[in-house]
Amino acid sequence: MRYEGEPDKLVYDARPTITNYRENQVADAKPTESNQSTASSSNILKNWILPSANDFIKNPAKHLKRPAGNPGSDFSFVQGDFNDESWESVDLPHDWAINGPFYKEANPVVGGGMGRLPVQGVAWYRKKLNIPFADAGKTIQLQIDGAMSYAMVWLNGSLVGGWPYGYNSFCLDLTPYIQPGGNNQLAIRLDNPNNSSRWYPGAGIYRNVWLIKTNSVHIGQWGTFIQLKKIANHTATLHLSVEIENKSNSDQKIELRTDLYQQNNKTGTSGKKVTAIPSSTVDVRPGSKSNFSFSFNLKNPLLWGPPPLQSPNLYVAVTTLYVNGKRIDEYETPFGIRNVQFDPLKGVLVNGQPVRIQGVNQHHDLGALGAAFNLRAAERQLQILAEMGCNSIRMAHNPPAPELLDLTDRMGFLVIDEIFDCWERGKTPLDFHLIFKDWHEADLRAFVRRDRNHPSIIAWSFGNEVGEQYTNDSGTVLAKELHDIVKEEDSTRPATASMNYAKPNMPFPRETDILSLNYQGEGIRDAPAYAHLKGIRTSPLYPEFQKQFPNKLIVSSETASALSSRRTFLFPVYNGISAPVSDSTGGNSVKQEVSAYELYTAAFGASPDKVFASQNMHPYVAGEFVWSGWDYLGEPTPYYTARSSYCGIIDLAGFEKDRYYLYQSRWRPGLPITHILPHWTWPDRVGLITPVHVFSSATEAELFVNNKSQGRKRKAPYEYRFRWDSVLYESGELKVITYRRGKPSATQIIRTAGNPSSLQIRADRTVISADGKDLSFISVRVVDDKGTMVPEANNRIHFQISGPGVIVATDNGNPADLESFHSNDRNAFSGLALVIVRAQSNTRGTITVTATAGGLNPGQITVSTR
Ligand code: GAL
Repeated sequence: MRYEGEPDKLVYDARPTITNYRENQVADAKPTESNQSTASSSNILKNWILPSANDFIKNPAKHLKRPAGNPGSDFSFVQGDFNDESWESVDLPHDWAINGPFYKEANPVVGGGMGRLPVQGVAWYRKKLNIPFADAGKTIQLQIDGAMSYAMVWLNGSLVGGWPYGYNSFCLDLTPYIQPGGNNQLAIRLDNPNNSSRWYPGAGIYRNVWLIKTNSVHIGQWGTFIQLKKIANHTATLHLSVEIENKSNSDQKIELRTDLYQQNNKTGTSGKKVTAIPSSTVDVRPGSKSNFSFSFNLKNPLLWGPPPLQSPNLYVAVTTLYVNGKRIDEYETPFGIRNVQFDPLKGVLVNGQPVRIQGVNQHHDLGALGAAFNLRAAERQLQILAEMGCNSIRMAHNPPAPELLDLTDRMGFLVIDEIFDCWERGKTPLDFHLIFKDWHEADLRAFVRRDRNHPSIIAWSFGNEVGEQYTNDSGTVLAKELHDIVKEEDSTRPATASMNYAKPNMPFPRETDILSLNYQGEGIRDAPAYAHLKGIRTSPLYPEFQKQFPNKLIVSSETASALSSRRTFLFPVYNGISAPVSDSTGGNSVKQEVSAYELYTAAFGASPDKVFASQNMHPYVAGEFVWSGWDYLGEPTPYYTARSSYCGIIDLAGFEKDRYYLYQSRWRPGLPITHILPHWTWPDRVGLITPVHVFSSATEAELFVNNKSQGRKRKAPYEYRFRWDSVLYESGELKVITYRRGKPSATQIIRTAGNPSSLQIRADRTVISADGKDLSFISVRVVDDKGTMVPEANNRIHFQISGPGVIVATDNGNPADLESFHSNDRNAFSGLALVIVRAQSNTRGTITVTATAGGLNPGQITVSTR
């Protein structure tokens, strides 16, 4: 890999010059008019790249022909004999920007919006592919599941094609350029524009890459689709379609057979065979693709459904092609059988059972690991969310790594799979709007085709808060076009787009099958504390949407945008339930901290409590997707001098903020938890008012300060926390006893901590695979001599490792910490720090991680690798 930074002469297209762009606009600001290229360049390669989309353009008349010539062939990096020994050797998935360093200056090259990391510019990746003689005659394709961005690919000096949108998977046929019998030089150029995203996009080949070798007659890319037609009398009627591609030069008589197996949803491996679809013989003409479909029944199907009431049972269909009795291709289609209904009054029903959407929005980055996909890191994100009671994820606002959808299938999450944050009207100067006209159809079809067999996906979203909401009829025509493309690719799921502006009486919402509202349901800037703010303002719109569209399900695809820094409490505390953060209310712009009383929000947001009340008052609403589940890199509203967001329920390092327990108390009401805030170590607040709030699903609670009752409280309707707002601080012990139906249900005690004394170390897993990918997430707590966590401890911790492992990154979840994630030194933040450790490949042994800090007893832990 070689990072060039400055563009070379091989550009995809000219880009407009940016003037007067200010990135820290409020997220619901009106998007701008389309901004097209103005500059020109004689080396524009776009006409050679566009034909890569042909398989995803429906109208054959619109298929583009590749112009003559082979641009870039004279460029040294694409040539086999170029000496790349001085280049950095990297493993994929790879994110070139994540190790920074962060841009710390006042006018950074890359601003807080995109995470202050060096994502911008050109980089090249080269690899020699050893293709034996035995592969002559095979079809050889390269599938890239995400390259950020504007990927252009050369093989043996010939330009093969490319794909600009960094979030989609794409496949290029290398066959015509392959030279069997030795090394073939692959060269991939990426060109990631600055000012192209409202969050950290990542940089590089950040997802998996596959070299796919098949017979020239084979099942096409994403060429199978299994649909449930009906379930009755304990029998599922399924429909399988298979696309066969014949790249040979003769007619082919193909025997096609499909066997169905159960799939283990813990390991992903296939188990018992359950049925076989009788074989059929089909003819496919040379150079063509043909679709064949089959209907079949499966008795007593094990249905897929979300826990805890249902199980995510999976199957895999194995389709095999034979020519003259010889097996020539085999293709696996994992799938699940489930019946999802969207009832405007009852909400989402899975297999007839109502499932409330207890969802979150997730961006694609994995915190300190950046955008580089890692299965264990993604699984950990989902596990921590599931423990909170979260059952649904909206993939904001782009196609995720395919492996993430395998995880949501296996773990039983409901998913809204989303593709675009903008259409023709852009949100940042160089975002997708520049190429929307050329690429939207191909991107949209590729997106649905890749993901349509995942049972976890319940709906497609073809846009988030797009500027076309503002353009009435013309925007609606475009919405309809996108909606119809999705439905052509998959008629079984609703297609939607999230609306923060379109109103019930506007034409836009007519083009969505379900109504996905961002913030509008509970009202935007409509509480007293928001009265002075400019921007979109609406009263709660659930009732009006329901009246206008009585047959459409309503879900809040974004709620909250509540902000906080984990376990950081600022005074005084707002006495209402929701307020926009400012220096006088919940914020400290100097320290770039937002108070964790969990009452403060973005300008257009609402606290969790306000959202809960609104959802309960409108019970036909199917539920919510909170913005956001985890903190993510970039978009550090309200402090654009920081690196990562404040809106997560879980911080960037994976530590739960106080809010986590507020959602858990609502989403897992049977769990007898109590969570007290703030912490109780305030040497400077003796005698001062220090409000105490408690998150619990109980109905009553009594608070004691050093055994003196502060009163027993009962939650009023539409209240979701207990609060004692006039407690005077004294050091010692804070105790809460909660009651359900008059009986004590849970007790929690927290105590004033002394001075930092030791580091306590704990790993999420102490045995990991030695596959060069698996991770152990190790956290360190600063505690006093009694083992009580010191809540504001920010000691500088040094990490050391020995044995067959490496430290991949460290973090502490503080959005304002601009120390490189690569550093082995990290200040604790609110008493905690994280170190992420990876085992080396193929080395069994014991890794020892030691954490030290000046004046404290060190912490040490071992992790074994297998
Ligand atoms: C929404 C937007 C999200 C994010 C969020 C921030 O308006 O759809 O992408 O920007 O605000 O709070």
